[in-house]
Amino acid sequence: MTDDASTASLDGVVRAAPALLGSLRLPADKSVAHRALLFSAMGSGDAEIRLDRPGDDVLSMAGVLETLGAARAIEREPDGMVRVSVRGGGSATAACLPGRGDEMLDCGNAGTAMRLLTGALGARAATATLVGDDSLSSRPMERVAGPLRTMGVEVATTAGHAPLTITGRRPLKALDHRLRVASAQVIGCLTLAALAAKGTTTITSPGPTRDHSERMLAWLGAPVRREGPVTTIEGPAGFRNRDISVPGDISSAATWLVAGALHADAHIIIEDVGLNPSRTGIIDVLRDMGADIKVASDGPTRDCPEPVGTITVSGGRPLHAIDLAGDRVADIIDELPLVAVAMAAADGVSTLRDAAELRVKESDRIRLVVQNLQSVGTQAEERADGWVIARGAPRPATIRTDSDHRIAMAFAVAALTGIAGTVDIDDPACAAVSYPTFWTDMERLSR
Ligand code: S3P
Repeated sequence: MTDDASTASLDGVVRAAPALLGSLRLPADKSVAHRALLFSAMGSGDAEIRLDRPGDDVLSMAGVLETLGAARAIEREPDGMVRVSVRGGGSATAACLPGRGDEMLDCGNAGTAMRLLTGALGARAATATLVGDDSLSSRPMERVAGPLRTMGVEVATTAGHAPLTITGRRPLKALDHRLRVASAQVIGCLTLAALAAKGTTTITSPGPTRDHSERMLAWLGAPVRREGPVTTIEGPAGFRNRDISVPGDISSAATWLVAGALHADAHIIIEDVGLNPSRTGIIDVLRDMGADIKVASDGPTRDCPEPVGTITVSGGRPLHAIDLAGDRVADIIDELPLVAVAMAAADGVSTLRDAAELRVKESDRIRLVVQNLQSVGTQAEERADGWVIARGAPRPATIRTDSDHRIAMAFAVAALTGIAGTVDIDDPACAAVSYPTFWTDMERLSR
């Protein structure tokens, strides 16, 4: 790539790309990586977890496991592959984290790490404190603390937020719990605690969520199953560890699916990407809008229960407006900032409803998406639980991210595809939370 062909820069200035062409593999899926690492730390025996160029959130989880004594070695290869050697603290009949207690565990920006760890630590008869950065410390934690207390775990929050001090115990009480908000993080948290409870725990979700916890625990041999909206765990139980290779992150792939669909001259092939049906909603949404996307699934591999495959997107087709609400929203919860950019490129008026959860992600994503779209010239209005978006006249702007990785990448895509004028992203480095090679991949694909 020559300098004058460069459209993306690590200083956060992004302008329209003449074309987006090429193939790529993505860093390890954040959701699957968190679970592969944490579950191995609770299982019996050794496991090697293989993570291609993991993001900062995943490294936070690996760091927590090092502090607990579960991660014995973290090796980085020159090509970016990270191999984490984990020794589980549990047995084949009792899943449990190792560690002496009184640890201070830093989750950084990772909400999934903090919520899953709260359940895992609840199932260990010791005390630990979980801390996070400013963004994570403002996110709601009572949704995990409340049901865990009913199970017998002591959880002290800081006015409903982190820092959290957790004193676990064994056995815990089994639970029949109905979630108020559909959340895979909460289900995963309670599932881990339920492995240390006596009896059957059932968790009922008001809507669909990603099922990585249930899939991986069942694959490891734990008595955990998901049937429709209900997750059932028969405790007490444990499982034997297995080596796990984590596939590429479909939420990172979504940046290129949207960029490829919006750009008039694009052909992008994404290989070895996770295709769990609870995560592929972005493909359906973009196809419904008129995008040309092809998927070839190879099914699950020997080293991972998740289906993996190749996605190809070609640009040049007009996109139509879409109305999104209800169960469709959960499947694309992390992709909604990118979907907003696609809505800004479409013919007609698009709407999003039932997405109030976006206000308690790494930032208030409803507010930031709408404000940033307005600054780049799109017609956008905020609603309590979503937005209304129609095409405008693109202009240059500075993008305020509040250090939210998904906002930074969505507005880079807006500029690359000409939905925005040239943008100056205030914190480009935050993309590394989930997608550390985002900027270099952008350089590689931009011709
Ligand atoms: C995640 C679940 C989602 C998602 C987050 C990762 C997970 O959050 O937004 O980025 O790995 O379980 P909720 O479960 O709170 O909806």
